[in-house]
Amino acid sequence: MRALLVEKLGPPAAHRVVDLPDPVPGPGEIVVDVKAAALNFPDLLMIQGDYQVQPDLPFVPGAEGSGIVAATGAGVDAVRVGDEVAFLSVSGAFAEMVQLPAFRVLPKAPELSFAEAAGFTLTYATSYYALRQRAQLRPGETLLVLGAAGGVGAAAVELGAVMGARVIAAAGSDEKIDFARSLGASDGINYTTNDLKEAVRALTNGAGPDVVYDPVGGSLAEPALRSLAWGGRYLVIGFAAGDIPSIRLNLPLLKGLSIVGVYWGSWVEHDPAGNAANYGELLAMVSRGEIRPRVTATYSLDEFAQACEVISARRAMGKIVLDVG
Ligand SMILES: NC(=O)c1ccc[n+]([C@@H]2O[C@H](COP(=O)([O-])OP(=O)(O)OC[C@H]3O[C@@H](n4cnc5c(N)ncnc54)[C@H](OP(=O)(O)O)[C@@H]3O)[C@@H](O)[C@H]2O)c1
Repeated sequence: MRALLVEKLGPPAAHRVVDLPDPVPGPGEIVVDVKAAALNFPDLLMIQGDYQVQPDLPFVPGAEGSGIVAATGAGVDAVRVGDEVAFLSVSGAFAEMVQLPAFRVLPKAPELSFAEAAGFTLTYATSYYALRQRAQLRPGETLLVLGAAGGVGAAAVELGAVMGARVIAAAGSDEKIDFARSLGASDGINYTTNDLKEAVRALTNGAGPDVVYDPVGGSLAEPALRSLAWGGRYLVIGFAAGDIPSIRLNLPLLKGLSIVGVYWGSWVEHDPAGNAANYGELLAMVSRGEIRPRVTATYSLDEFAQACEVISARRAMGKIVLDVG
């Protein structure tokens, strides 16, 4: 099979597509013929050794994708050869075949193409867990989403609107704001041309949002936190801007705020049944037509570095997908 191989940690252009032996499933495992794989910000961190989970070298990167089950190992009965699936792994998706524990796949929603299904498992699951379990977002509340056109941000906008919140999308360009509005945001703030805290205040008549969803961090974190309403919840999702912010603890004290950490990958290990229930609810939303991954650019496996450049240059909107099969 052809696969993108990371032999030595380094930037996207350092890694090549090579031929590797086809994988064979062990007990409890399956092999999937990959049709499409989605690129996520953590993939860029992992290939450079900067992510919180690092596979041993050499490894094939790529966390999420979709395809058709090609083989099953001993003891696998829930999945059959020929099933169309979406999968989530730590690595291995940027290849023509991936070997996975059988519990790491979901049925592919029939409403979605392989490219759309490839971008379903990680972003929606992260954002749904963040909004539902961590923030306990309620209908009628106001949700401010930073990085609102990015992978997890776009999913948070869609889900927030479906959950009955008023969604304010904040992003780095007017084009991204328009994209977030198409996902259900009712208002938008371009934070490269506006003061975030003042703009949020103006849009909420001074009250502030109830929940902030922050996958960006850096210099946006503090104004976003300061904009929150009394009793608000600030969701720590990630640090795409690079800097991990430090927050003075008098800020949560003064407004009765909660700073809430979100690590979806770890929650899956702690509460697999809860995660499975969330997936069931997300698949029902897909079948009702309420959510749908937006694939805005597709690249071949050989164009991996160009695909990564779209993300690192902040041009990505929705999902960037590698067409593998
Ligand atoms: N906590 C969890 O369980 C979990 C799960 C998945 C992902 N994450 C984290 O969430 C973050 C976003 O992931 P993603 O896959 O959604 O990424 P993404 O699609 O690249 O979106 C990140 C957004 O951050 C903004 N940004 C600001 N400065 C940036 C920079 N220097 N480089 C790139 N983007 C920058 C961009 O929006 P603007 O241009 O509009 O500012 C971009 O749209 C990452 O830190 C990732 O590790 C966390």
